[in-house]
Formats: sequence, C-alpha cells, structure tokens
Amino acid sequence: MLNNQIINWYRNHKRDLPWRNTKNPYLIWISEIMLQQTRVVTATDYYNKFTSRFPTVMDLALADEQEVLNIWQGLGYYSRARNLHHAAKTIHTLYNGIFPKTYKEILSLKGIGTYTAAAISSFAYNLPYAAVDGNVYRVLARIFGVETPIDSSEGKKLFQKLAQETMGNASPEIYNQAIIEFGALQCTPKSPNCDTCPIHASCFAFKSNRVDQLPKKSKQINPKDRYFYYLFISCSGRFAIEKRESKDIWKNMFQYPLIEFDRLMTTDKIIQSKQWKDIFANKDLVIQSISDNIVHKLTHQNINTSFIHIEIDAEQIKRFESFSFIKKQDAENYPFPKLVANHIAKQVI
Ligand code: ADE
Repeated sequence: MLNNQIINWYRNHKRDLPWRNTKNPYLIWISEIMLQQTRVVTATDYYNKFTSRFPTVMDLALADEQEVLNIWQGLGYYSRARNLHHAAKTIHTLYNGIFPKTYKEILSLKGIGTYTAAAISSFAYNLPYAAVDGNVYRVLARIFGVETPIDSSEGKKLFQKLAQETMGNASPEIYNQAIIEFGALQCTPKSPNCDTCPIHASCFAFKSNRVDQLPKKSKQINPKDRYFYYLFISCSGRFAIEKRESKDIWKNMFQYPLIEFDRLMTTDKIIQSKQWKDIFANKDLVIQSISDNIVHKLTHQNINTSFIHIEIDAEQIKRFESFSFIKKQDAENYPFPKLVANHIAKQVI
C-alpha cells in the first residue's frame, strides 16, 4: 500500500526537527505557520527564538504586537505574525487559554486554513485529517498523474480527497509527516531523486517521463512593480521613522518616512511632487545622497527602492511631528522590514 511505503521511507529518512518531538498544539501551530513560505533551516532558528520568548499561548496572547513583529523580523509575510497574535488572543478569551481540540474550532482561528488545521489536528491529537501542502500536491500529482491545476478550486477538492484516501487507516500523524517529508526530501520540485525512490515503479509521472511537468498550475500572476523612495532624514545621530498603519504589506511595522510612486522618478520630479511637498513644504533642503535603486522581491510585488538622505538641523525637527526620531541603537526595539533594517545596519551616524 502506498501509505505504508511512504511511512517506511519516512522511518528511514526523517529529519529530527524540534516540532516533531512534541504533541503540544501551540508549538505545532507556531512551527506550521513558520514553515509556510519558509525553509526548514530558517524556520528552525525562528521557531527556537519565538517559542523561548513565548513558551505558551498565553505568553503570546498577552504580548505587545510590536514585540511579536519584532521577533518575526526578517522572516517575511508578516501577516502570519499578526494573525498568530490575534488567534492567541482569541484562544485566551474564548477558550480560557486552552488550545481548542477539534478541527472545526482550530480552523475557525485567524490565519489557520485547512492545511494548518489538519496539520495541528493530526500532529497534536492524531485526528484523521489529511494535511495537503505544496509537498503533498506535488507527490500526489506525480504518483497519480493528476493534470488538474493545484490552484483551482476543483484541484483543491480533488487533491484533498486523494490525500484522504491515500491516508486510509494509517496513523494520521505519521502519514501526514511522512508524505510532507517525502515531498521535501525525495520528490523535490526540481531534480527529484527518482532513481532512489522506493515507489517509482508505481509512479505515473516517472513511468511516463513527465516528472518535470507535474504538478500543474493554472495561473501565473505577474508581480506588480512599486517604487518606494525612503527618506532617511537624519539629525545629530538620530533619524526619522514612522509606523505603517494602512492595510498594505508590512502593516504595523516601522520604516523611514516613505513616498511612493507608480514609476521610476528623477530627483527633480521627486522634489516637485505633492508627496515631497506634503512632508517638506517648500523648504530648501539639501539632499546628501540618493542610493542606487534596489529591487526587493516579494511574491506578488517588486519593491523598487531608493534611499534619499537628507540631513536637517535640530530646530527643524519640530516640523516633523508625525515622525519619531530615534538613535541607531534603539532600532532593535522596532520591527522593520528587512529592506529598511539592512539600510539601518549600514549607517554610521
Ligand atoms: N513543512 C510543513 N510542515 C512541515 C513539517 N511538519 N515538517 C517539515 N516540513 C514541513
């Protein structure tokens, strides 16, 4: 049986990962959220740091969002951290701080979709829900030769059903870990290790030489280009920062004052723009330097970024009421996107 073959493979090849030595649903939850979009090595460091600072769901529920984001800094996809915090507060108020025990209740928490709910339900409580992540889509699409796109609603239903049938009456906990690990290590996206694969004889994709064509995706979304001009406004060893409040990437994180455009701009155009004038009125300010454009790539956005350095004198600070002026050594108390944190790290002021 396929489930047993994958489980046998897992017994011989599994990695010893910290979240595999626990049944604590809170710890499993944190690991699963971190592992979305993040490699295991990176996630492991953050997992250790995060769970030392917030060892229980109550520690997380009672923390400041700023500190939660701060610990998440560098990991990206920050809505994951905001949702974790939100859901921890729900567990505090609705469930007296005790992690819910049913799939349905777990699924109702913010930021938890069908994959994560199934992963927690099976790893913590051994409930029979097949967890279907990118690894599982790939393994099943190849073994069974499924052409239906994995990002279509039809595909999602089909793969869920297939995963559940493949689980059969194997232990849900072990089967889910096994098929995820099998996808991560053996049936990899590029150059899978088909030669050493214990199930290649029954793999549709292998037999028909179509391993590199499965799984299928229907849509390729072109990333949107954005143009960020960060104002590095410095004044005797301090620099200006602001909080991003709007519903956009990096919500509730900090940054230098930002002006954004829909295209690449010349310095003259920037200085004549409304965004610039809203901040600096018509004051004569000396631009010390403008950095080269760097492109920070997110999944659906390319953030084209330049840093404009402006040094102001102490009495001008008053005019920038909406910004805080901080010292470099205080920066570690604020969550900054990596793009900004890297720039701060390089400053000698
Ligand atoms: N990716 C998603 N969940 C995982 C897990 N539990 N172990 C390893 N990789 C994973």
